Amino acid sequence: MPRSVLVTGGTSGIGRAVAERFLADGADVVITGRREHLVESVAKDLGAVGVVCTGVVCTGVVCTGVVCDATDPRAVEALAARFETLDVLVNAAGGLGAAQPGPDATELEAALAQWRADLDGNLLSAVLTTTALKPVLAPGGTVLAVGTIGSERRGGSYGASKAALAAWYAMLSAELGPRGVTANVIAPGYIADTGFFQGAMTDTREQALIAETHTKRAGVPNDIAETVFFLASAGARQITGQTIHVNGGAFTTR
Ligand SMILES: NC(=O)c1ccc[n+]([C@@H]2O[C@H](COP(=O)([O-])OP(=O)(O)OC[C@H]3O[C@@H](n4cnc5c(N)ncnc54)[C@H](OP(=O)(O)O)[C@@H]3O)[C@@H](O)[C@H]2O)c1
Repeated sequence: MPRSVLVTGGTSGIGRAVAERFLADGADVVITGRREHLVESVAKDLGAVGVVCTGVVCTGVVCTGVVCDATDPRAVEALAARFETLDVLVNAAGGLGAAQPGPDATELEAALAQWRADLDGNLLSAVLTTTALKPVLAPGGTVLAVGTIGSERRGGSYGASKAALAAWYAMLSAELGPRGVTANVIAPGYIADTGFFQGAMTDTREQALIAETHTKRAGVPNDIAETVFFLASAGARQITGQTIHVNGGAFTTR
């Protein structure tokens, strides 16, 4: 039986690399994202052959794309209803919250909008998806969420939202452990070749981030995909309730 895998935010960057890794292993993979054209084209690319696209659902041989905003409870419920069983859930959807306070917003209202955007996009998105899929997680399965190095330092409302996610995942690990399901957060450092920085990364900033690492290189989406794949493997069944840092040494835990 191929494994059943759901990757939220699977249309770009880290999530896409995770989907590719499991597809290479012969898994049945569902990817999600908010932008319909991307969901359709990426599911086609990854599914390779036999693709049938109907509206918002695009099915390839093993890769299915579903348009789903992970912050929308109704959309997440509809997504969850597609699964009778799920082996691997990867919450990769997220990013820097883009708050849009009105022109008359006070300073405090603008701050509130920024916090809510980050908490919605990075914390509540994963909380909703994980909660909706929890009942169908199979023994031997795993749930993962993508955190950030920013939770350890200078992360602002974005880093704080991912730190809260890690705290919630520690509780989830205790809840799911007796069912044979592991729960971990992977906290990447700087990962190049993603849409995360939306074109705002400068050469100077990038060189500074690379200089912080011991490996003297930027991370790439595949660094995270391989970590996800390991944590979902038989060899990682005793690893749960952890935040796993993947940052080339830019942040060390001791
Ligand atoms: N790149 C880095 O350096 C870095 C470092 C640490 C952590 N991270 C984290 O890694 C994760 C993946 O980001 P990335 O770097 O791969 O950036 P990315 O290339 O921009 O990918 C983000 C993905 O998430 C989707 N997405 C965002 N909000 C969503 C929502 N509410 N519902 C469903 N899908 C949503 C995006 O598609 P749509 O916009 O179409 O929805 C896209 O597929 C994020 O959680 C990010 O915070 C990234």
